[in-house]
Amino acid sequence: MNARSPWSEDRATAVIAANRHLRGALLPMLHALQEEFGCIDEEAIPLLARELNLSRADVHGVVSFYHEFRRSRPGRHTIKVCRAEACQSMNADGLIEHIRRRLKVDFHETTADDAFSLEPVFCLGNCALAPAVMVDETLHGRVSPARFDAITASTLATEAAR
Ligand code: FES
Repeated sequence: MNARSPWSEDRATAVIAANRHLRGALLPMLHALQEEFGCIDEEAIPLLARELNLSRADVHGVVSFYHEFRRSRPGRHTIKVCRAEACQSMNADGLIEHIRRRLKVDFHETTADDAFSLEPVFCLGNCALAPAVMVDETLHGRVSPARFDAITASTLATEAAR
């Protein structure tokens, strides 16, 4: 389950300052901000630009270049769906279509209730049990649309029971 702090300019300034001494400080700062807040908040861009004497466009360019940086806060659970070859050959595309319709989100988006974020991955190391999906830290193999629905329902039920 993802649990991250809400945006705070003071906290972001402290995170940036803590990484100021590092070589090529922008990337460590971005990683630390994402670790703290779960994404690179739009409000972090001018803080980084000012700190590093860069333009906002430069900072934006780096954030968009590296796919691991999120622009929106993640949901409480992250669903990673494999798009690599073995899973493709077992109709991962059909599963992805089902997931998009079911959750009403595309990749890199979070459901309206903040429950799930959907991310593509390229091989989860579970090729023999394709198509593969990872929900938070749990790997699932041979995921059919019906099985996907059962996995997400069980994730929500476990969360509600806590
Ligand atoms: S190709 Fe999907 S898990 Fe390896």
